[in-house]
Amino acid sequence: VQALVRSNDELTQLNSKLKVAQDQLMQSEKLASIGQLAAGVAHEINNPVGYVFSNFGTLEKYLADLFRVLAAYEQAESQLAGTDAGATLAALREEIDLDYLKDDVPALMNESREGIKRVRKIVQDLKDFSHVDTKQDWEWADLHKGIDSTLNIVNNEIKYKAEVIKQYGNLPEVQCMPSELNQVFMNLLVNAAHAVDKTRGTITIRTGAAGQHAWVEIEDDGCGIPKENLSRIFDPFFTTKPVGKGTGLGLSLSYGIVQKHGGRLEVDSEPGRGTRFRVTVPVCRAEQQPSA
Ligand SMILES: Nc1ncnc2c1ncn2[C@@H]1O[C@H](COP(=O)(O)OP(=O)(O)OP(=O)(O)O)[C@@H](O)[C@H]1O
Ligand SMILES: [Mg+2]
Repeated sequence: VQALVRSNDELTQLNSKLKVAQDQLMQSEKLASIGQLAAGVAHEINNPVGYVFSNFGTLEKYLADLFRVLAAYEQAESQLAGTDAGATLAALREEIDLDYLKDDVPALMNESREGIKRVRKIVQDLKDFSHVDTKQDWEWADLHKGIDSTLNIVNNEIKYKAEVIKQYGNLPEVQCMPSELNQVFMNLLVNAAHAVDKTRGTITIRTGAAGQHAWVEIEDDGCGIPKENLSRIFDPFFTTKPVGKGTGLGLSLSYGIVQKHGGRLEVDSEPGRGTRFRVTVPVCRAEQQPSA
């Protein structure tokens, strides 16, 4: 009987390992097909967005010129008082509500510029996601340096929302693509900052090494992730953030990057208590992963 119980236990364990492997496989297949789609879309959108953006600069200049001409006309208008031309101008000005228009045009331009910038950012994210123009530069790098410089970049997003506590352990240099891993840290840090948005919380960064692996944990005491979302957060475009705030690409991008390093990205979360993400990567470049 004991032997039976034992082999049953072993089977159960094996089963759950299989389940994990299957999940990972599904995730990487999903990523691969979406990646191709994303690369295509990004490529198609990139060109038109490029010329809209550059025309925009010219357009702004032209508008400024037109406004100057308009101002000169307005100056001259008083001389036309009493004439037919003067009356026509005054009527037209009334009809199109010139004063309002003059205020509104710059506001519209600003808003549109922000919109285009956002589209460009999304296209860039999509490109990164599908790794179209990433160079494969593997080097030995100090992850602490990477985390620190990433912290500098996202400092503005974080400093009013959370206190950052560093608990760095002993880390050997890691053979990796540093700028890509930095992107992972950035996504995790920004997510953590968003999660503590309403509370002013704490973000704790821990690092360490175990055997041939280095790990980095980013933990927050923010809103946490509901159980039903946990299986979806690594999916491209899954987001709970309001429209315009998140694209839902951060974690799927990060997942792909860590996978490319032969590592793991794991999450542990409790709604109301907080979330901990753990990145584990091999210290030495892993053998070529089965292409994702
Ligand atoms: N630290 C965290 N705490 C709570 N929820 C989180 C955390 N990190 C991620 N999430 C959840 O996972 C979702 C997906 O995260 P992901 O980074 O992929 O996209 P996003 O942050 O919504 O948008 P993007 O990163 O593209 O701007 C988030 O919308 C949020 O619901
Ligand atoms: Mg994010």
